[in-house]
Order: sequence, then C-alpha cells, then structure tokens
Amino acid sequence: MAGLIPQSFIDDLLNRSDIVEVVSSRIQLKKAGKNYTACCPFHKEKTPSFSVSPDKQFYYCFGCGAGGNALGFIMDHDSLDFPQAVEDLAKRAGMEVPREEGGPGRKPRQPVDSPLYPLLEAAAEYYRQALKSHPARKAAVEYLKSRGLSGVIARDFSLGFAPPGWDNLIKHLGGDSLQHKAMLDAGLLIENSETGRSYDRFRDRVMFPIRDSRGRIIAFGGRVLGDDKPKYLNSPETPVFHKGQELYGLYEARKANRDLDEIMVVEGYMDVIALAQQGLRNAVATLGTATSDEHLKRLFRVVPSVLFCFDGDAAGRKAAWRALESTLPNLQDGKRARFLFLPEGEDPDSLVRREGTDAFLARIQQQAQPLADYFFQQLSEEADPRSLEGKAHLATLAAPLIEKIPGANLRALMRQRLSEITGLQGDALQQMSVAAPAAAPHFDDNAYYDTSTGQEEDAWYAPPEAPQPKRSGQKEWKKDWKKPGQRPDFKARAPRTPTSVEPPALTTLRTLLHHPELAQKVEDASNFAAEDDTYAQLLVALLGTLQKNPKLRSLQLIARWHGTDQGRLLRALAEKEWLISADNLEQQFFDTISTLATRQRERSLEKLLRKARQGELSAEEKDQLRNLLNRNATPATGST
Ligand code: UTP
Ligand code: MN
Repeated sequence: MAGLIPQSFIDDLLNRSDIVEVVSSRIQLKKAGKNYTACCPFHKEKTPSFSVSPDKQFYYCFGCGAGGNALGFIMDHDSLDFPQAVEDLAKRAGMEVPREEGGPGRKPRQPVDSPLYPLLEAAAEYYRQALKSHPARKAAVEYLKSRGLSGVIARDFSLGFAPPGWDNLIKHLGGDSLQHKAMLDAGLLIENSETGRSYDRFRDRVMFPIRDSRGRIIAFGGRVLGDDKPKYLNSPETPVFHKGQELYGLYEARKANRDLDEIMVVEGYMDVIALAQQGLRNAVATLGTATSDEHLKRLFRVVPSVLFCFDGDAAGRKAAWRALESTLPNLQDGKRARFLFLPEGEDPDSLVRREGTDAFLARIQQQAQPLADYFFQQLSEEADPRSLEGKAHLATLAAPLIEKIPGANLRALMRQRLSEITGLQGDALQQMSVAAPAAAPHFDDNAYYDTSTGQEEDAWYAPPEAPQPKRSGQKEWKKDWKKPGQRPDFKARAPRTPTSVEPPALTTLRTLLHHPELAQKVEDASNFAAEDDTYAQLLVALLGTLQKNPKLRSLQLIARWHGTDQGRLLRALAEKEWLISADNLEQQFFDTISTLATRQRERSLEKLLRKARQGELSAEEKDQLRNLLNRNATPATGST
C-alpha cells in the first residue's frame, strides 16, 4: 500500500473543492437563501432538513445530525474509506494524491495519454461534419446565422451540430464494447440505469467543443436551437474534464494572439464567440461555475491583466465578488484585475452586437473599475464609512482580505487606502487581519433572510425590545455610485444587526456557537440559570451540554434543539454572518457570563434573605446562603 497522504495536501484539496459541487453531483440540491437544502440522503424524510453551506463548506442534517466536509460526505454517501474519498475528490480536482515516503511497490507514474482524447476528437469531427452536410443541418446553420456568426468563427471555434436522434454518434463511432465503455466514460453517451441501454447525450444541438490549454478536446457544451430546457447541456465530469477549472475559449484566444495583454472573463459560450466575431478574440468563459482560484492561476500564467465582465444585476455582482475573492491570493505585483458591470439585461454578446466593437471598447476604457476601486466600493456599501461604526466594520471586513494579496507593493497600497478611508493605522489593521474572519458582503436579501423560514425567524431573532435602528443617510450615500440594474432597495431591508443593540446574552450565545471550546473555560454554568431570561437559559443549557460533550461541534449542538424555538434561534444565529470584531470576543464572552452570574447570585441571595426573615430556611438553604454570602463577586469563570 502507498504511504500516508500529507495533511497539507488534504487541506489544499479541500480548499480547491466546492462542497456544493460535490454534494450536488450526488443528490439534487435546492437553493435556499445562502445555503442549499435537500431531503437528507442519510435518513428517510419527506421535508428537507439537510443543508449545505457554501460559505462554511460543510453539510449538515438538522434531522439526523449527519454533518461534515466534502470528504466526509463522499465517505458516507459513497461508502468509501478516507483514502478512497481523497482519491475521488482529487480526481475531480485534477490533482494527484501524493504519499509520504512513497511506499514500496509504487512506481513513479508515467504520464499516459488518455484514450478518451482521440475519441472526443472523433466526436467533434463528426459534429463538425454534420454541421456541413447532415440533412437536418439547415436549422442549425440558420440558428448560428441568426446569432450573427460567420463561417470563419464557426471554423475557429470548431462549432458543430449534433443531429436529432438517439444513436447517431453511437452508430458513427460505435465498435466493440470497449469503445462503448470509453464513450460512456467520455460523457458522450448516457446509460439508462434501468434498461442498461445507452444513447447519445447530445441530440439536436449546436455543439461547442471545449479544449484544454493544449488544444485537446476534453468536453462539449451543446445548445438547443430553440427555447427548450436545459438551454445548454454540458459534458459531465470525466477523467479528462474538470468543469470548475477549465476556461472556455482560452486555447482559441491564445491561438489568435500569443501576446495577449489582457483576457476578458465572461459568463457564456456565446459571449466568447460573439466577442470573437466582433474582433475581440481575448474572451474566455467559466463553464457555468464561479471563477475559481485555479481559473485565476491559469489566467495569470498567460496574461498580466484580467478583465471580469459581469451583469450588473444581483447575481452578477455576487459572481463578481466571488471572482475578486479568487483573484486576491493570486495578485502578485505586476498582475492586475478590472471589473466591468454591464447594463441590466445585457450580456457581452447582446451588447457588442448592439453597440459595436468600438463602443464596447470605449465602455471598457471608461467604466472598467480597477480591483481596488471595486473592492472598496463594494465594502463601503456594506459598511458606511461615514460613521465610526461603519469605519470599524469596514476595516474588519477589508483587512483580512487585503492580507491575502501576495504582491507586497499592492498589499501596502491597499492597506494605505484602507487607512485613508477608516483613519485606522497599521497596527490596528494588522490585528484585525489576524483576528477577524474574512466576511463576504451580502448580495441579496435572501442571503440574509433564510427563505425557508422567512422573516418570522428574524422577528424572533431580533426581540421587540431591541428594535433595529434605521441607518439614516444610508440611501443617499448608496445613490452616489449606484450601478444600473441594481435593485432600488438593494439590501435596504436587511440592515446588519447592529451589535450594540443585541442583548449581551445573545451575543454570548453566538460566540459560543462559533467557539464551542470556550465552554470548557466556564466553571459552573448553573451559576446563572435565571428563570426569566430565555437567552440566559439557553446559554446555560448549551454550556452544560458542551461541558458534558466537549467534542460537540456547533452544528451537532444545534441539532439537539432541532424543531424547537430555541433550535430556530440557534440556527439563525449560526447562519448569520459573523459581525463582532474578533479581537475582544473572548473578553466579551466572559464578561457577559460574569455579569449574568453576578446578577443571578444577587437574585438568589435576595430570595434566601427574604425567606430567612420569615425564619423558614432549611439546612440546605442555609448552606446555600452561607456560600453566597462568602463568595463576594467571585468570577464565574476561569478565563484564560
Ligand atoms: P447564459 O444563459 O448567460 O449563456 O449562461 P449564454 O451564452 O448567454 O446563452 P445564450 O446562448 O446567449 O442564450 C452562461 C453560461 O452558463 C452555462 C453555460 O456555460 C453558459 O454559457 N449554462 C447556462 C449551462 O451550463 N446550462 C444552461 O442551461 C444555461
Ligand atoms: Mn447570451
């Protein structure tokens, strides 16, 4: 057997993988606010309590308590052991699993060319020919013409046509069972699991071959000629195709010009092709996935500058922020990124065809924002830097992100700009970048309100005696640089919960949820079980549970209250973004607990004294009273 898998590799692998992709390739997920839900694959249920968090990269079932990261899911779902799950995930990420002290019997692997390459090439050739000569080709040709494409572009992008019918490709390429198996592996065929029969995956579609950086065809996208769904059908993940890493059009862009200065990243196949048709042959598209770290690495290997081109709507802005997050860790000095947001309802294809190449270039010239501008603009939208609190919040959000930039000069300039905006100087910012988790800004109301439970939960969460203050001036401020396509009340309904109005016990609950290990530092939770305070009661219950089960993670903890009001509160607390600056978090936690304990002690004391005046204390109560009187303001905790 091979040696151990290094932990660093596992960390890296998890970083490069997306749990949503992993889970959704196995069960069907539905978007619900920030997260995804489904009926749990690990127990029988009719209403979904299984949830996947892209932010936290974990899954959790509020019904049965199953939970973990991408590897855990693969292990449980596919019944694999850990090394097998690592292999599986690594294959998907296009990574090879290294082994420490390469065990015996393990030869260095010879790079072998997969037999799938020639097969995919042959399929592409068949589709190309069909576009030229198949009797049913006319509709496809008309379609491409209607989208303004010339024969030259069709040739340059090797466009093709998969004719209608279930077995055109099978008949054309079919051979022995080995060939059949290879076609299945290449994603060209689909097998019906009940009948065992297989048929062509792509039927009656315009075909877009996807090439790797060496020009080998690794997959296809196929578009319907009309309005049928799905609009695009893509090859599945195969040994040679890893969707989250590939960039459609990169090979073609490089082929057209070896000396590119800038690559434009757009969203769709047709955007790439339409731009090329207009002479802009430097566009690439992600394949319906978010822009990943791997994408950026590839891009910066070939160009110093990347221009992201997104819709101006909420989804586009969200995608842009994801792209920015993937860009930061790849920004060596000398590399740069820009962001262009398009008017509502337009994509690069429609826009460049409507306004022409020159106007499109002028638009880029005038409107593309340097990464730094977009960065501070977006964060200022989250945290209004005209107030002190806003400045503090902005610094908390920005500092850890800035620290991700590897280019020392750019990093320094970004820090400087943050200082200018917030007035905070080096040391304070430095501390924040270490302490605070980088938080993504909100991009829509749903990201804030869990759609499955709606605002009810929020009403519950924000108690009536603690109304959320209106942030005056916010709207006018936002207008200054509002982009077309942005909803008028973009986030206005969802102010961040100001920490100042949150009851301390609630803050403490939240802290405990995020840092369950703190429970071990609290001496005696029962010290402050005040009957009249729901939050304090829940806090005591949580502490008690954690002290009994020190290994519980927050989600397992929440599961214990599943289906109750408390459970919903805990869930809301856990899902909401983390807003308290982390540097004095522990302090705050223990302060609150001390206060609660003191208050509770006073209350008990009062009660006992009252009873004592009436002369009815039992022996036990007398002990209690003695204890209370002796313990003058003993802290309830053994902090740090
Ligand atoms: P778009 O719908 O913006 O693509 O989806 P487009 O290229 O502009 O499409 P048309 O032809 O002009 O209408 C962006 C990308 O998302 C993926 C594809 O990669 C597409 O290019 N996608 C979209 C799918 O994979 N499947 C779909 O059904 C839709
Ligand atoms: Mn389009």
